[in-house]
Amino acid sequence: MPRDKLTITSALPYIHGVPHLGNIVGSMLPADIFHRYQDLRGRDNIFICGSDVHGTPLELEALEQGVEVEDLAGEQHEKVKHVLQKFDLDFSIYSNTHSDYNRRQTHDMFLELYCNGYISEETQVLPYSEEDGRFLPDRYIEGECPECGGLARGDQCDDCGMLLEPEELIDPYSAISGSEDIEFKETKHLFLDLPQFKSDLMKWVKEERPVPGSSLKEVENAIENTEKRCITRDIEWGFEIPVDQVNNRIDERGLDVPKLDPDVYNDKVLYVWFDAPIGYVGFTRELFDDGEEWREYWNKDSEIYYSIGKDNTIFHTVIWPSMLMGASNEDMDYGLPHYEFIQQFLLAEDTKFSKSRGKGLSTREALDMCPSDYWRFYLAKNLPQQHDSTFSWSDFESEINNVLNDTIGNFVNRTLSLAEQWFDSEVPFPELENRDEQIEAEALRIVEEYVEAFENHDLKTGVEKATEIARLGDRYLSEEEPWNNEDRREETIHVSLHLIRAMGVMLYPYAPEASEKIGDMLNVDIHTEEGVDEFIEPLLGNLEPGHILGEREVLFEKIDVSKMKNDETTSESDETAENQENVSFEEFQNMDIRVGKVVGVEDHPNADKLYKVQIDIGSKTLQTCAGLVNHYEKEELQGRKVVVLANLQPAELRGEKSECMMLAAEDDSGAVELLGLQKDLSIGSKVR
Ligand code: 2FM
Ligand code: ZN
Repeated sequence: MPRDKLTITSALPYIHGVPHLGNIVGSMLPADIFHRYQDLRGRDNIFICGSDVHGTPLELEALEQGVEVEDLAGEQHEKVKHVLQKFDLDFSIYSNTHSDYNRRQTHDMFLELYCNGYISEETQVLPYSEEDGRFLPDRYIEGECPECGGLARGDQCDDCGMLLEPEELIDPYSAISGSEDIEFKETKHLFLDLPQFKSDLMKWVKEERPVPGSSLKEVENAIENTEKRCITRDIEWGFEIPVDQVNNRIDERGLDVPKLDPDVYNDKVLYVWFDAPIGYVGFTRELFDDGEEWREYWNKDSEIYYSIGKDNTIFHTVIWPSMLMGASNEDMDYGLPHYEFIQQFLLAEDTKFSKSRGKGLSTREALDMCPSDYWRFYLAKNLPQQHDSTFSWSDFESEINNVLNDTIGNFVNRTLSLAEQWFDSEVPFPELENRDEQIEAEALRIVEEYVEAFENHDLKTGVEKATEIARLGDRYLSEEEPWNNEDRREETIHVSLHLIRAMGVMLYPYAPEASEKIGDMLNVDIHTEEGVDEFIEPLLGNLEPGHILGEREVLFEKIDVSKMKNDETTSESDETAENQENVSFEEFQNMDIRVGKVVGVEDHPNADKLYKVQIDIGSKTLQTCAGLVNHYEKEELQGRKVVVLANLQPAELRGEKSECMMLAAEDDSGAVELLGLQKDLSIGSKVR
């Protein structure tokens, strides 16, 4: 039985670049799936994430751009947050590690760890650059990776993920000046004394089994070989060390630990890897506005889940649990991880998706190509739970076209159009026969397997189970042939509607928009409130005979990846880069761009983010489907003069004609502004 409260966290993405699909698959998507499942079960759970903003990469980038690192962090954070929201990640809070709440929590935990004797000072020999007049921590120094020969930084190799010490780099140089004049000099730093936690960590892992079997050996080895770990850095960007707080407490309590030397430690900051996981707790404090409630989600009575990529295993199974143990006191006894979802890598043509090297598909590019549900569905099905998985365009196309459209979408559409045709969209009164009851029983068995998979921390199987319901329903309809068999109509439609209801619920963690649409079409709620468990009573039962169904909508559309791939770009910077290809004057002249006036705006019947807009361009009125719902109210558009591409190749967008385009600009943060006119020129005026 789960405990009263569940805390679900996803590894915090770095923000030097917008996360690629690989990052999303590795941490946020699995966490979101699990969180949405817990919502279906009506359990009290929170889903915590945020941007990991400290550390050297961002400081280096700010240095390069000549801007304040804090401003750059804020800007990047907003950008990342915006894209993640578009991916329908249902965070309870998405904050960032530079928040005041996290500063307080970081200082609180540091204080406890220090005063409890788990942090000690060591003298280190570190790379120092004469030319730059400073030490070169982490990414400030680069060189060749001793393991794989790739480009590595002072702390880690981006290619193979190996953690490094700077002296291991081959042919090191300063990332600031490029200087190869590197000297190794002595300096003092603070270390977390991890070996003190060894036996408790080992006991926890052996008894609680908090990781997937495929990661167990690695974790046990890491615990066995754990060493002290440095938690301070010679940089400016990060949280200051709470020197006074520590020294005051030592005095007040007469503690037997050495005081911190302000001359040494006032110039250093806490290492990004110290305050990042603390962000999980800091953000929870923020969520509850520092009210005491946050403790209930972090003490031993809470069931705390993590969702991480395999390159984060050691941090979450050795370092972070040690911090939780070491920072506990009589007021706050932190709970250890209950379970960690650890994903292997998602590969794109056999290379790892990498944010820093611009490989793979950015989340924003992906979302420009098709709705988030499509990606979520495909990625969930290919979750690298046990092995690396490979993203393939042809697989993607076939999943969307054959499974989402032809299996799931068709079953829904077929049933609902028959219900409309035969019963005027009212759930019919059946006289169930044995075979109908068998189908319902089979559906219930599939639902049970779905629940069982989730309770066993298997997030992948649920997609299959939802699809299995559609297959079952499709087979049932084909076998019973209600179109040839008039006295089987009530039963088959009744049962099929129940199956759709179950499938709608089951899709909620994976394809939330489609799930919601199914709910609308059936005119039933998919319950995600606390205390209402969808898998007990309501699941198959709340479509009583006589219930009036909602409007039919298009659930999915087919895709053509050959078209999408042509548009694909490989790195995020390409998105905003100027187009280097020239456009001839004739080509430009071929575009009929004019001044138009919006004469009608209504909601698109099948797409939440689109308006259906009528535009008078002088000679005639044209219709367009515009993705402006998140940017303009209808009233703001009505009567507005706009600039229109009037000879756009007509297309259908979710079943509605779109034959022109209003021109608009979009900036990096996703803000959208329609182009307009400063002077009031007449409708139909040409732009040239
Ligand atoms: O590997 C990463 O992307 C890190 N930003 C993960 C941090 S997870 C947590 F501990 F904060
Ligand atoms: Zn390497």
